Amino acid sequence: MNDRLETRVLGTSPDEITKAGQRLAKGQLVAFPTETVYGLGADATNDTAVARIFAAKGRPSFNPLIAHVPDMKTAERLCDFTDAARRLADAFWPGAMTLVLPLKPDSGISKLVTAGGPSLAIRIPAGDVATALLNAAGRPIAAPSANPSGRVSPTTAAHVLAGLNGRIDAVLDAGPCPVGVESTIIGFEDGPTLLRAGGIPAEAIEACLGTSLKTPAIDAPLTAPGQLASHYAPNAPLRLNAQSANDAEFMIGFGDVDGDVSLSANGDLVDAAANLFRLLHEADATGKPIAVAPIPETGLGRAINDRLRRAAAPRH
Ligand code: TXA
Ligand code: MG
Repeated sequence: MNDRLETRVLGTSPDEITKAGQRLAKGQLVAFPTETVYGLGADATNDTAVARIFAAKGRPSFNPLIAHVPDMKTAERLCDFTDAARRLADAFWPGAMTLVLPLKPDSGISKLVTAGGPSLAIRIPAGDVATALLNAAGRPIAAPSANPSGRVSPTTAAHVLAGLNGRIDAVLDAGPCPVGVESTIIGFEDGPTLLRAGGIPAEAIEACLGTSLKTPAIDAPLTAPGQLASHYAPNAPLRLNAQSANDAEFMIGFGDVDGDVSLSANGDLVDAAANLFRLLHEADATGKPIAVAPIPETGLGRAINDRLRRAAAPRH
């Protein structure tokens, strides 16, 4: 095990963002805010730096990482874009969408980022702080969510510190993430495919492409997140589609279904996504078993239900 680090908490002044970018360029691990969740960043071209991500998260090394870039010019230097991919990039970047695309041979991306495969998951995140940091770093930044592997994703710097304090070099604190669930992941290998529901509704992507998205075959060898059934898991057991709490439970409500807290009392799925991981962290801190109200399976509800089902799945 590595020696314990002193994890710095940085603000978002231009000077602090420049320093954070220099830390990344030196191979350090810096957690930073995106519009979806906080990412644990490292130089995607530096094998050692990327390896440190896996060590800090305790992440199974077969799980590849998303590369974050500030603009389309950089994205096109790394990957080949098909027409469909370019159309999605034009419509939704910067934003909560990741595209899995063929990696160019001279990209310089560490094989640890792609798990040795021929394609790279890439996105241009939204948000002034993320953009400024990526520009300051001057290289693509690999960043999974900044939580210990399998645990609830972080939407504040405090969540990052709760899981990774002493294991990373710094965290940039820019307050809560506005979207609150991870990016939607789209692959193109066998036609446009929804690899992970996320912050941009699949319906919006289908409308842009003018075709419906495939979903990967159940027995497909890879590829998307949550190949590990239990993921995003709080410590306490979690019961889904609850209309009310049992005696000992902490209840997370939605819409008409009340709880100790609510994802969104007026049934707004955008608010519910933004609140999801914060309320799971809060519920977990009570030490009680958790019950969650039903969430509709449309729009962002798909991403929310995906995360909730994984959080409720049997642990290994
Ligand atoms: O919103 C997000 O996507 C956040 C922020 C930080 O950008 N990042 C994030 O990363 O959720 P992570 O590592 O927790 O999830 C990325 C998932 C992985 O579980 C992996 O299975 C999938 O993306 N992935 C990465 N590279 C891939 C590739 N080359 N092919 C297929 N799937 C890939
Ligand atoms: Mg994650």
